[in-house]
Amino acid sequence: MNKWWNEAVIYQIYPRSFQDSNGDGEGDLKGITSRLDYVKALGVDAIWLSPFYKTPNKDGGYDVADPRDVDPRFGTLEDARKLFEKAHSIGLRVVVDIVPNHFSSEHKWFKEALKSPKGSEARNRFHFYDGKDANTPPNNWISLFGGPAWTQIADGQWYLHLFDSSQPDLNWDNPEVAEDFEETIRFWIDLGADGFRIDVAHGLAKEDIHVDHYDPQGLSDALRLDVLMEVEKRNSYLAKIPFFDRDGVHEIYRKWRKIFDSYGDREIMAVAEVWVHPPKRATLYVRPDELHQFFNFDVMNAPFDSEYLYKSISDMLNLVKEQSAWPTWCLSNHDSERVASRIGSQAARAMALFVLGLPGSAYIYNGQELGLPSGEMSDSDRQDPIFFRTNGKQKGRDGARVPMPWSGETSPFGFTNGKPWLPLQNDWKEFTVEHELADLNSSLNLYKRALELRKEYFLGSGELTWTRTNGLLSYKRGKVEVLINISDQEIPISGKVILASQTIADVLPPATAIWLLS
Ligand code: NOJ
Repeated sequence: MNKWWNEAVIYQIYPRSFQDSNGDGEGDLKGITSRLDYVKALGVDAIWLSPFYKTPNKDGGYDVADPRDVDPRFGTLEDARKLFEKAHSIGLRVVVDIVPNHFSSEHKWFKEALKSPKGSEARNRFHFYDGKDANTPPNNWISLFGGPAWTQIADGQWYLHLFDSSQPDLNWDNPEVAEDFEETIRFWIDLGADGFRIDVAHGLAKEDIHVDHYDPQGLSDALRLDVLMEVEKRNSYLAKIPFFDRDGVHEIYRKWRKIFDSYGDREIMAVAEVWVHPPKRATLYVRPDELHQFFNFDVMNAPFDSEYLYKSISDMLNLVKEQSAWPTWCLSNHDSERVASRIGSQAARAMALFVLGLPGSAYIYNGQELGLPSGEMSDSDRQDPIFFRTNGKQKGRDGARVPMPWSGETSPFGFTNGKPWLPLQNDWKEFTVEHELADLNSSLNLYKRALELRKEYFLGSGELTWTRTNGLLSYKRGKVEVLINISDQEIPISGKVILASQTIADVLPPATAIWLLS
């Protein structure tokens, strides 16, 4: 049966970087609401909001101190309600983030745990253990942000944190944790949310906590979120990592699915962040009684290589079919280098056309439609805990989080009246929304046109047939053939071009894509 998310285009908004409404240099909910008409005009179906909950903001809001309240830097619950209302009034659905793997150390539960004795109920909501000896943590697991995954507290016990030490992992074997999240899910649905993006969805179940699973010598340099972006390293690492993708996690999602389904016609949807390998493991999260989608990070981080892309995309199409699910495609998010910087601006435009014709749902990260590169900054501007926990060895993800340039000649380009929390590049005038709207050949106008034609030609047109798979990668869906040139040669073309990633004549230059009517 067709569901709204099967072929939806979902626009990710990173609230802190979208639009500031009060001059404090950080984006907020009112700012987002004021820009929803722009989002609608892009032609997307839904927005996904990265966290805006109460947070000390040690990890860009993925450190949640109260999952059922809005952080004052983003506004109020009433602002959230108004945002949902405005979105719905213009036909946009709203997906919110949920962060069930950990809370912030500022959450009242963690504060209570610190004050409570060993073995208490309060400690049992997290993973508190005695060490192997006075100075050695219970195991040798390494945090994804660098350094050990354990921090010791005053009475000698250690707590587990797969990310920053300010993000203690929750104990999902404790029914109270599960109940609390169910309440959070209902809370946001009742306030108007249409779906959830589930953070670290593969990480909730912890098993074998007393076992050292790998040789940290070999992996300590690899265990970083930014290494997850390098395909080969990532896959060998994911295959060894002990605290991800345990079978127990699926029971949680089967329970959540019942909650989502209980809202019937509201068609609540959940998309999982799953870093697992091989890709077949990811499809287990979208079994018919679990979640609806998972992010396909393999394509997001794929090399610009036709053989790789062909194999990755065709495998994924086959794998999700086994679960009667639909695939998702994304090229960027708030954790990855921006696609225009990763593969080059011309190839990024071509890849956009290539994935927007595929069956399934597409995610666009705010600014991607502008062809925005990753922002550059000096180390003194950086805020990502990855930068600090690795003593600057890893630069972290701030480059992908630099605020949106909207209008005008110089930074902050209409984002704020104050000092932006991360610097916008002074030479970004050509990337502003204002500038790109006026330029017919801009990346923004390419995305707008692609989303229009996607509705006209692709939606509901079912599966694809690959036509060429080497150098020139192409597939046919319905009346349209989609071609991308991933070779270093020009390739002759014939037929009626309905959309091209660059202005072209009768050949397809390297790193360009077209939609051909056949
Ligand atoms: C994945 C999120 O996308 C990332 O931004 C965050 O740092 C980690 N999960 C921890 O919540």
